[in-house]
Amino acid sequence: MRTIELDVKRGIVKMIDQRQLPHQFEIVECRDWRAVADAIKEMTIRGAPAIGAAAAFGLALAARESRATTRDDLLNDLDAAARGLRATRPTAVNLAWALDRVVGAARAANLDANGTREFIVAEAQRLADEDVEINRAMAQHGAALIEDGDSVLTHCNAGALATVDVGTALGVIIEAHRQGKKIHVFVDETRPRLQGARLTAWELTQAGVPMTLIADNAAGFYMRRGKIQKCFVGSDRVAANGDVANKIGTYKNAVVAHANGIPFYAVMPTSTIDMNLANGDLIPIEERDAREVTHIEGMPIAPEGVRVGNPAFDVTPHQYITALVTERGVVYPPFVENLNKIMTL
Ligand code: MRU
Repeated sequence: MRTIELDVKRGIVKMIDQRQLPHQFEIVECRDWRAVADAIKEMTIRGAPAIGAAAAFGLALAARESRATTRDDLLNDLDAAARGLRATRPTAVNLAWALDRVVGAARAANLDANGTREFIVAEAQRLADEDVEINRAMAQHGAALIEDGDSVLTHCNAGALATVDVGTALGVIIEAHRQGKKIHVFVDETRPRLQGARLTAWELTQAGVPMTLIADNAAGFYMRRGKIQKCFVGSDRVAANGDVANKIGTYKNAVVAHANGIPFYAVMPTSTIDMNLANGDLIPIEERDAREVTHIEGMPIAPEGVRVGNPAFDVTPHQYITALVTERGVVYPPFVENLNKIMTL
């Protein structure tokens, strides 16, 4: 199945429970938009494009739940659901983008209450279907950057699980493998949530791509030894100047890659590019629960009551980014100019 699906007949949203992988493959069923919001917050579903699709499907449930008989009342209910969904996670702009797109399109359609309900469901489904097509296009553009014999580093999970299907950075890597290129993937475990160890390693194993799981701290060691030729990561938000917000630790990898002359690519749909923010310092960074750092799989690993910092994302300044891979093609510096061009295509 896809990472997330809307079951229109049953009026539910189904998603793979990413907290249980790789030990168990379980499906969670959400019956109302609040359950979808909780799933985003608790990271049952995570990854920028995936939470965008989840938010859209959350609105589809909200439209069905609402007892409104007029278009205006229904739109008020949808606005309230959109506020709740928007408040779940602040960094990935895909979430806000999806909500604005679905509600905006429903307003513009100017239909009666029932017409608006049907429209919202169809628009959310369209958004999810498009995500798959967009990821396929990115996979093609990005795979061309990988040569036969390359070893690549990836961080966090930017695979099918982080999207509706296919993936961003991992979609590129798996496509290169499918094209017959002999590649090897170094997978950062990605503390504190271990998306690399739990999810990326699982996806690569399923796809039969040769890989080595490493502690985050080992990436520099392998880069300096010439074992890594390219880095591919996803993104949660790109500013207008090309600064890239992605999973915490991305910045450190990019700086070390730069110091070792290794190209560093970020892969994202254009819905991740936020032209309203001039630079990455303006991107809101989510701070998550201290327990994610003090505990591993429920086991305490630090003295009780210790002070903890747990930013979920960091920003890599554009100087360290070789290129941005989007569904519309590969964008090279100067980013201000070239992002402007690609965003107006
Ligand atoms: O906290 P997460 O797991 O939602 O963070 C995910 C990432 O940082 C991914 O790299 C990003 O969303 C891009 S994946 C398509």
